[in-house]
Amino acid sequence: MEIQTSTGRAGVLDVQALAVAVFKDEKADEGLLKELDDACGGLIKSVFESGELKGKEAESAYVVVGEGRGGLKARRLLLVGVGERESYGLAQVSQFAGTAARALRARNVKTVGLVARAPEGEDERAAQAAVEGAIMGLFEPDKYRTVEKEERAVDRVVVAAPGADDGAVKRGAERGRVVGESVNFTRDMANEPGAYMTPTIMAQRAQQLANEFGLEIDVLDRARAEQLGMGSFLSVARGSDEPPAMIVLKYNPEGAERGKGITTGEPAFDGGQLLAFVGKGVTFDSGGISIKPGENMELMKYDMTGGATVMGVMRAVAQLKPPFPLLGVVPATENLPSGKATKPGDVVRAMTGKTIEIINTDAEGRLILADAIAYAKRLGATRVVDLATLTGAVSIALGDVNTAVLGTDQKLIDELIESGREVGEKLWQLPLDKEYTRQIKSDIADIKNVGGRKAGAITAAAFLKEFADGTSWAHLDIAGTAWGDEAKPFRAKGPTGICVRTLINYVERQASAAATNAG
Ligand code: BES
Ligand code: ZN
Ligand code: ZN
Repeated sequence: MEIQTSTGRAGVLDVQALAVAVFKDEKADEGLLKELDDACGGLIKSVFESGELKGKEAESAYVVVGEGRGGLKARRLLLVGVGERESYGLAQVSQFAGTAARALRARNVKTVGLVARAPEGEDERAAQAAVEGAIMGLFEPDKYRTVEKEERAVDRVVVAAPGADDGAVKRGAERGRVVGESVNFTRDMANEPGAYMTPTIMAQRAQQLANEFGLEIDVLDRARAEQLGMGSFLSVARGSDEPPAMIVLKYNPEGAERGKGITTGEPAFDGGQLLAFVGKGVTFDSGGISIKPGENMELMKYDMTGGATVMGVMRAVAQLKPPFPLLGVVPATENLPSGKATKPGDVVRAMTGKTIEIINTDAEGRLILADAIAYAKRLGATRVVDLATLTGAVSIALGDVNTAVLGTDQKLIDELIESGREVGEKLWQLPLDKEYTRQIKSDIADIKNVGGRKAGAITAAAFLKEFADGTSWAHLDIAGTAWGDEAKPFRAKGPTGICVRTLINYVERQASAAATNAG
């Protein structure tokens, strides 16, 4: 799909359909709407007068503009309600664009103009949000359907920002393309069946990313993980015939010392700060010997979404080029039962030397993250953000609306929440008092991998905290938000790509803070 921008008059845009954001109770007799209304011979006004559209969120009206009706070049108009003007921010711009792109594709429109109406002073970022929203909106999870497949496709999207600075809108749109495509990259991986997204295939995808975008890569196989003493990670892989992989990606800013490199297991970056993203990569979670019930088990293909999110973020970062290095670590494995599988009651030793009693083999995410976080530290990470579809309990607490965030560094947590808020991804902090750690004390070993029925999302984080010690750390539990059971006007059902944009925005915010400090 082609992405273009235009800063001229929207009425003369050469597209089949023009989508226009309409505020609540807006009138058609001033500003941009008047200009468009004049251009289509009063059609907008008549839609408003009919009461069909009041500008409330998720309302829309589709109008076919007759030949010779004023000077509007587009023959179709889609008016999309976006709610109150005061609360119209970048998150709403992105949802507007997704809604418009989906609705127009459904009407077989091939070329779309988006009049997103940037909030004051936000032309560049609004162009970015509009492109992100359109690209994300057009993602469909029906990759393997061969009959009655939706063949309609939008070929060209034009971001229309009348009167805005041309360079700014172009820059924004280009960033939007990078970010939107990276979100869909993550969604595509999350959507793959377990058979098509094994740890080996995940590692191949990482290798492709490294080749295409110039990232440094290292993939630890079972032998190297054994040498490093990653007994916690490997205990999850025991039951499977698919070899596990600890995938490490590194972004090095141009001109920077490459450090000692990630292949030696020595700190890759000494001196400054090193931010690491760590993502759970369980390519299928059957529960292992503590096997899950059959109902909805097919969804456990998306238990590698944390890892796919890290890869999507690294893919974007490699193109957006912040001035500091970044590490991505993805422990990838299946969790299956077999004669070789780890049993409840077994005790394993993590890379840090900590011993873990495995009470339930279905609490495997924390086991693989323990060694992955420790390895990120070994490679020099001073700040760690991990992401995981970690607990069913988080859905009970927060549903599919908020991602849970917990951690040891309040400043980092606040920054993540704000980074999410800006792009329309909600994060809600859960407490992590030290009292919760009592629930994971073991009678036979240092800790156990399950903390009982109470506060399941928190005790899972308390387990990770044992391994994140000494770094500034935050944990995002995306189990409730990474999969949409229902379609929204602005996106399909299925993998949501949640937190890809939050983390990219977090990196971008760090980059502009660094630029401000340097200047
Ligand atoms: N992958 C699951 C968590 C999950 C559940 C993700 C539903 C997405 C949707 C995780 O490995 C798991 O099974 N957790 C257990 C932990 C329990 C055994 C302490 C859970 O939440 O039931
Ligand atoms: Zn599990
Ligand atoms: Zn799992």
